[in-house]
Formats: sequence, C-alpha cells, structure tokens
Amino acid sequence: MERNDFMKKPIFGAGWKMYLSDSEACQLATIINKSTILNDSVESYVLPTFTVLDRVNNILSDCVVNVGAQNMCYEHSGAFTGEVSVRSLVEMGLKYVEIGHSERRSLFNDTHVSINRKVKLALENKLIPILCIGEDLNDKIAMRTNEVLEMDIRTALFGVDYEAAKEIIFAYEPIWAIGQQESAGAEYANNVHMFIRQLLNSLYDESQNGDEFKIVYGGSVTAGNAEQLMKQPHIDGVFVGRSSLDIESYETIFRIVSESQDLK
Ligand code: PGA
Repeated sequence: MERNDFMKKPIFGAGWKMYLSDSEACQLATIINKSTILNDSVESYVLPTFTVLDRVNNILSDCVVNVGAQNMCYEHSGAFTGEVSVRSLVEMGLKYVEIGHSERRSLFNDTHVSINRKVKLALENKLIPILCIGEDLNDKIAMRTNEVLEMDIRTALFGVDYEAAKEIIFAYEPIWAIGQQESAGAEYANNVHMFIRQLLNSLYDESQNGDEFKIVYGGSVTAGNAEQLMKQPHIDGVFVGRSSLDIESYETIFRIVSESQDLK
C-alpha cells in the first residue's frame, strides 16, 4: 500500500511511567518548557504520573508539549476506590489519556473489555486515547503477531465509529521490545504498522486507504534509532519511555520527529 501525502503532524509521545518523583517530573517539565528547539510541527505530549499531572500541566501551559494521563477508570464516577475518573482528567484540562499499556494489561488486569470501555469513555469526553497494542515474545515466535493485534484492535474499537477512531493514536508497542537495548527494528515495525493500517482500513467503510489513522511505534526508541524509525512510511511517530527522561535525548528525538517529513 502506498502512502499519500496526508496532512497529519508527526507525533512524539513521552511516557514517564513511574520513573520520576513529583519534584523530578516538575524539574524535567520546567526544562522542557524552556527548550528553544520545540515547535508546533510536532504533535507532542508527556504522560506524567497522576499526582503531578496538574502541576506539569501548569508548567507546560504555554508550551507546544501537551500533557496526558497514563490511565483512567472505565467507569464515569462512583464507588471505585483508588481509581481516577475521566472527569478529573477533563477538569484538569488534559487532552490525552494512555489506555492499555502492556504493563497495565499484564500487571494490573486491564482486559479487552475494560480497555474498550476506557476508549469509549475517553472519546465521549473528548480525550484523545493513546491505545497501546502489541504482541509478546511467545506470540512473535509463534508468528501470531497479526492475530494478536487484530484481537487487540477489534475489541478496543467495538462500538467506536469512524470519526472517533480517527482521533485515536494507535501505539504499536511490541512487548518484547519495551525496556530493551534495541527497538523492534525499523523495517519490522513498518511492516506491522502497514498491517495495522490495512486492518483499520478494512474495519471502516468510510476509509479510503487507512492513511488517516495515526499509528506510532514504541519500544526502546532512542536518540540513536529514532531517525531510522521515522523514515518509515507507515510510522507516524514515536512513543518513548526511558529516552524521554533526559533532556538531551528528548530534544534530539523531538528534532528528528519535527524533520521527519523530509526523511520519508
Ligand atoms: P521504553 O518504553 O522506551 O523505555 O522501552 C516504551 C513504552 O513502554 O512505551
């Protein structure tokens, strides 16, 4: 499938997981806010931990970098001790929410059903879901990657119409490539992105060629491999964990993403 020129900004997402304390997250946000290389040719966001979301959002209020949450409850409100509601995220003025990261699926019982509910709740409340999908090593070895992705995507999108699906950022994050030394490899990732694009295209009659869907790659993205990844025609952006915690690599990756249209 050939890509058309589609007016879509390249994406740079930063997932800070539970790496930083609140004061460290504020420090990093303050440094990012002062960066002179950031520009609005990139759709960018950072995802700090819940307790510091409001503060980071204030620090970055005039910055091109947006702020989002790493999770939210699948219910709107009520007796759900320890959960954070979509209403709180919206009241804070956030734009994004990450849904279904593999760490949440494997360690905190996110299921296909709860992920689908979160995706719909986020969209109903005008939050952009960053929907994480990806196969583990066993599935990869057994060549079940496409099967796993199809299941992840079909279940997450159950009841989600075309207009809403176009809002979602699909983050392909092969579990075996997260937290490693190497990414999944640019060519491998591009082929999987192509599969995801074709699948999305086939799910929605309105779609012409799947080009309108936003698909980013995550899993050991670094300042060293971001360019190779961003060169790939089907990779619309990167989702970065550890390498987003250091301002030097943050800025380098941002620059590569902002110049990526010239690479393709
Ligand atoms: P990593 O994390 O960049 O540290 O591998 C990626 C992710 O889990 O999104």
